[in-house]
Amino acid sequence: MRRTDPRRNDPAQYDELADQWWQPAGGFAMLHWLAAARAGHIPPAARPGSLLVDLACGGGLMAPYAARLGYRHVGVDLNLAGLRTAREHGVLPVRASVLEVPLADACTDVVVAGEVLEHVEDDVAVLAECARLLRPGGTLVIDAIADTRLAGWIAVDLFERLPGGPPPGIHDPALFVDRRRLLAAADRLGLDLRLVGLRPSVRDLVAWRRGRRSTVRMRRLPLTSVLFAGYGVKRATPRAAESGAHDPVRRHGSPTPLTVEP
Ligand SMILES: C[S@@+](CC[C@H](N)C(=O)[O-])C[C@H]1O[C@@H](n2cnc3c(N)ncnc32)[C@H](O)[C@@H]1O
Repeated sequence: MRRTDPRRNDPAQYDELADQWWQPAGGFAMLHWLAAARAGHIPPAARPGSLLVDLACGGGLMAPYAARLGYRHVGVDLNLAGLRTAREHGVLPVRASVLEVPLADACTDVVVAGEVLEHVEDDVAVLAECARLLRPGGTLVIDAIADTRLAGWIAVDLFERLPGGPPPGIHDPALFVDRRRLLAAADRLGLDLRLVGLRPSVRDLVAWRRGRRSTVRMRRLPLTSVLFAGYGVKRATPRAAESGAHDPVRRHGSPTPLTVEP
């Protein structure tokens, strides 16, 4: 069991920052850049009604991309304020934990799980939900912070102190993601997943800080030891050993109605 810091990763922060989701220079600025990067790895919808399930959708920053690519966009999150914002941007909201998503097996063409694996106690259980929700051949896009000292130093000690950086206290390094464990779990769960490192373009960052650019492009890095993305496909035929290999999730016969609780 990992020893977490009770002063960090406080879900109440998402309420306090609720008005910042769509501010391009607000506390969630980098999430805008990551949303654009994710979109580059999602194929256009193959047919009308194709579904994209966005686990921990927050304020719905993937919405313009999901719409442009032709998907119905379902967002799952626990934070009500975020879900309300996401709904204003066209997301179909579901208030639930990403550890137990009330949607049917194999119901979706795409799963996105951006910047959430490092906010939960059991990242592999979230990956299992991704695998369960995806139809065979479906696309998975994730990004997260790696469980390394370097990532702790950059994401917490440095970035959280920078003006315009992520909200202080938002990350708990004890929850950062063990990449080897994640890849091993992905394989067991029938996901072909490859990881790449990501970093913001330095030139864009300087221009953005000077108010000369509205966004910052994310660049690929061979090094995955700080911020990394994962691009995956659910295998068409799972290996025999995979069935029940990691099954912390409920099996649902049919999708539940998509609602935000009042
Ligand atoms: C850093 S934000 C990322 C939001 C969004 N994916 C994005 O990149 O714009 C983390 C989100 O995870 C949500 N979250 C954290 N733990 C969760 C859980 N167990 N179930 C559902 N949502 C969760 C928070 O409410 C928050 O909206």
